[in-house]
Amino acid sequence: MTVNKKINVGVVGATGYTGLELVKMLVKHPAFKLVYIANSEGGTTINELHPSLSGVCEDEVHCAGVDTMAAACDLIFLALPHKTAMAYVKPLIAKGVKVVDLSADYRLPQDIYEAFYTPHTDAQNLSHAVYGLPELFAKEIRSAKLVANPGCFPTSAILGLLPFMDKRVPHTPVIVDAKTGVSGAGKKLSNTTHFVNVNDNLFAYNPLLHRHAPEIADKLGIAFDEVNFVPHLVPITRGMISSIYIQVQEGFDVEKRLREYYKDAPFVRVSKKPVTMKDVAGTNFCDIYVKQKGSLLFIASAIDNLMRGASSQAVVNANLMMGLDEKMGIPDIAYVP
Ligand SMILES: NC(=O)c1ccc[n+]([C@@H]2O[C@H](COP(=O)([O-])OP(=O)(O)OC[C@H]3O[C@@H](n4cnc5c(N)ncnc54)[C@H](OP(=O)(O)O)[C@@H]3O)[C@@H](O)[C@H]2O)c1
Repeated sequence: MTVNKKINVGVVGATGYTGLELVKMLVKHPAFKLVYIANSEGGTTINELHPSLSGVCEDEVHCAGVDTMAAACDLIFLALPHKTAMAYVKPLIAKGVKVVDLSADYRLPQDIYEAFYTPHTDAQNLSHAVYGLPELFAKEIRSAKLVANPGCFPTSAILGLLPFMDKRVPHTPVIVDAKTGVSGAGKKLSNTTHFVNVNDNLFAYNPLLHRHAPEIADKLGIAFDEVNFVPHLVPITRGMISSIYIQVQEGFDVEKRLREYYKDAPFVRVSKKPVTMKDVAGTNFCDIYVKQKGSLLFIASAIDNLMRGASSQAVVNANLMMGLDEKMGIPDIAYVP
């Protein structure tokens, strides 16, 4: 595709983990021009905060201000904590700027959001936000003004489960046993993510009640009580695998079904061997492996939480919103070894 005039974009929250991944892709993107980057304080340059960008991007970091970013940008990526994102979406949409929000603020119906997060203050935009999983909603994303970028665990779990939902034995448990690296918690240090607690260690957190369980259930159209989701923190920087167990009808070829379901999906790869996190690190791929034993179906789904689980999926969504090829500017070779 030939690009004549570049589309001006900005990143708010550029000094965080997902913000850094966005900046890395946007400075190389053939159709987007990164013209605005911000965090909560400003007063520095992006390479002072992320020295890995020295010589590549040394732009000023602004103290985030809606009027300035709206004047400069056609589309803004919000890589902010939930609730903070909501406060920016409302005025940006009112000023005609398109938004891809990486937080949870626009992913769920209001009642479910409020049960798991906080009171919602922007019901108007929540009503038209599109859930940014291209395998499900590419058509709606193309005409969206506001895209709610999916959560990382929901991305891996939903992509693994989607091809088999109509073969599932109704009302049997969906078990999602997931493992993730520490970058999933963002850059702020806490007791849980402290080196001493994470190193040489492995533990579950928020078993069965994690906020991503209602997102998985809502997008698959099943009851929250049927989703048994247990995330674990592992001592790695990035990467995520969901090991999923469901009961399905017998008598069909599970791998064939998976391949057919994703035959036109450029970012899903069907693996003949159990998937690994390294094979998708730094890319937008979701690698999926399936194995059946009687009515039990095991599905393993691997993504990079910072990429397919956040920032590269956000750039794919922005590509679609701006009428571009969804693969434009998306890294496709993993950090291996
Ligand atoms: N990490 C993941 O794997 C992942 C995956 C999927 C979705 N997400 C979601 O993506 C969002 C960002 O996550 P993250 O891991 O990148 O978080 P993070 O590392 O904690 O970064 C948060 C960013 O938000 C900025 N910020 C905070 N309050 C602000 C305000 N009032 N105005 C302007 N900027 C503000 C911070 O700037 P300062 O430097 O000034 O503090 C920082 O740049 C979260 O909603 C998270 O749930 C994360």
